[in-house]
Amino acid sequence: MSRYRRRSLGDAFGYLPGEQPADADGWLKLNTNESPLPPSPRVAEAVAGAAAALSRYPSPHAEPLRSLLAERHGVAAEQVFVANGADQVLDCCYRAYAEPGDAVVHATPTYSLFPVLAQVFSVRDVAVPLRPDGALRTGFAAEDAPLRFVVNPNSPTGQWVAPQELEGQLEGAAGVVVIDEAYADFAPASALSRLRHHANWVVVRTLSKSYALAGLRVGYAVAARDLISDLDSVKDSYPVDRCAIAGAVAAIEDEGHHARIVETVRRERARLHDALTELGWDVLPSQANFVFAQPPPPQSAVEVAARLREARILVRHFDAPGIDARLRITVGDSAATDRLLEAVGDQATG
Ligand SMILES: Cc1ncc(COP(=O)(O)O)c(C=O)c1O
Repeated sequence: MSRYRRRSLGDAFGYLPGEQPADADGWLKLNTNESPLPPSPRVAEAVAGAAAALSRYPSPHAEPLRSLLAERHGVAAEQVFVANGADQVLDCCYRAYAEPGDAVVHATPTYSLFPVLAQVFSVRDVAVPLRPDGALRTGFAAEDAPLRFVVNPNSPTGQWVAPQELEGQLEGAAGVVVIDEAYADFAPASALSRLRHHANWVVVRTLSKSYALAGLRVGYAVAARDLISDLDSVKDSYPVDRCAIAGAVAAIEDEGHHARIVETVRRERARLHDALTELGWDVLPSQANFVFAQPPPPQSAVEVAARLREARILVRHFDAPGIDARLRITVGDSAATDRLLEAVGDQATG
């Protein structure tokens, strides 16, 4: 840390991402919820085509991607905001809606980026514990705050609340309510179906998971026009580059490939859930592309993660109270499930 850094950040400050090994050799990455399949083959072609025009700035509103997303969701283009990943959309929500010192509410446990953003924007981070079934507590909606975040399906738990129930749990919530649906394509339904009834809802999506484009960095928000104009007013000048716009359009147009990714995740998620349960693990029901599971005693989550790492399998352990007994394991393809189960089984018997 330099002596110039803002004092309020401190030297241990920063978001801690899952490990990305430098050598791809032999690693099975089940730690950052990436897609089990590669992106549509049409993406590489589209990106190469866009590269020819890189001497020109891209569309500041990520057109024609924005209009395509609007068409897919049955809303106007002015109801869509596209940015450099869902993370940047979340960042723009803090920029647009929270004054320094304001309370910003999120559930806990949830996506660990929120407290980091709270510190960057000098707001008060208010974490309201979820109920064991993943529902929001009454205090969540009642808290006096201009901005609150719900992650649904939630990470790291994988728990999901149906849109109508979520509506009930959010009743009376003042300010802007952001529903982060990074994993919604793997769940039975989306809050987008209820958006027109809520002038203060912002639904956030990403192409990192169900479109296998984590490396391209494309996320977006869908909301009422006035909220989107708020986000537009605080955005970077050109948040999405030409290659990302073209690649995202190609991925969305390849509906068959997208369906294959979603199908693979749902199938392997059920297999992983059942097989781990059979091995004595406590696995939370998940509607995301990962499971959150506790190994049977006397094995501890930390030990299991360390031994899996020796077998070149990465899973995610969160060293935080209430969740440190579990591992978040991304759902892979069938070969990945086989390899993980074999390694876990060997540990139990070895
Ligand atoms: C809940 C949640 N929101 C947002 C993101 C970030 O998405 P993106 O890759 O589009 O920035 C993630 C990534 O893992 C996530 O888990």
